[in-house]
Amino acid sequence: MDFEVRRMLRQILLDLRLAGVTHLPRSIGGTHLALEGNGPWVKAPNASFTLADEGQRGSGAHVPPNTMTLASGPPQARTGQIRSHGKITAKEAEDLTKAAAGQGEVPPQEQPPLRNERLAGAASEFSPAVSFSMLTLPAWAQEEKIEVLSPEEKRERLQQLARRVAGCRRCPDLVRNRTQTVFADGNPDSPLVFVGEAPGADEDRQGVPFVGRAGQLLTDIITKGMGLRREEVYICNVIKCRPPENRTPTAAEVANCREYLDEQLALIRPQYICCLGSIAAQRILGTKQFVTKIRGKLFTLGRTTVVCTYHPAYLLRNPEAKRETWEDIKLLMKAMGLAPPPSRKAGN
Ligand code: URA
Ligand code: URA
Repeated sequence: MDFEVRRMLRQILLDLRLAGVTHLPRSIGGTHLALEGNGPWVKAPNASFTLADEGQRGSGAHVPPNTMTLASGPPQARTGQIRSHGKITAKEAEDLTKAAAGQGEVPPQEQPPLRNERLAGAASEFSPAVSFSMLTLPAWAQEEKIEVLSPEEKRERLQQLARRVAGCRRCPDLVRNRTQTVFADGNPDSPLVFVGEAPGADEDRQGVPFVGRAGQLLTDIITKGMGLRREEVYICNVIKCRPPENRTPTAAEVANCREYLDEQLALIRPQYICCLGSIAAQRILGTKQFVTKIRGKLFTLGRTTVVCTYHPAYLLRNPEAKRETWEDIKLLMKAMGLAPPPSRKAGN
């Protein structure tokens, strides 16, 4: 069974469990799908869930440690919530409930094919620990709000968006100091997006993200660490203008740019996001936590798996943290079904 289909089935099973269904299949069509298992089970930092009540834990359904479930409201109400945020249709829920009771088959879900050959070839036995459903997914992650576009339409819309960004004058301090806006680099059809913080001096000069010293380190992580080419991934930032003196973007600046990154991600529809540093992690996961606290884990937003790690600029100042970043990158690769290159020395 296709890795992505399996991941989605697992998510649906989890949603059903959260909706109060206690007897769920451990396998579908011969594929093992049990929800317990390896991996870091984590809670969305901003999800308003409470721990599963003991009654549910004792009901025979295995609830992995730290898994957050909706604890209040009758099962119908909870199912309603899950439907209303677009994860499964009533028909799919019915089919799954039947399959759970051993009657009938679960219809496979349509997934767009991966366009990248190396990435597409990477079928994985590893299933990321999908451990929560957010009540309010960010707009870019809400399937029902996302248009399915041809690659040509996608490029056209991204170009339109980049032109809008280039003409943006929302942040006077940034507009005054910028040479140009910095929209993105790489392959818009990539399943993997890196999100940084903001352009620096080199990026501002060249109009391309991550081309300075931190950018060279990111390129090394992608090429030497992951064995991918930089052109195979998509790279962008939380804000599109260089902050003067490379200061941290203000909350207002991040808010002003929110619409642009949201639309960018809705067009790209990444399967994986790697957040570089706290600003990106906070922006993508909607949390106030710092990257130190949330690195080393997999998060799921709709169909997208998110990993956070240190910012390459931080790694340049704190090389000892590279070891942890390599752990994070290996976790990401495992989730993606990519084997680490054998020659890769840990910690470099
Ligand atoms: N740091 C970032 O966060 N983004 C860039 O594009 C360059 C450096
Ligand atoms: N703090 C940050 O803001 N970013 C990092 O990458 C590490 C620590």
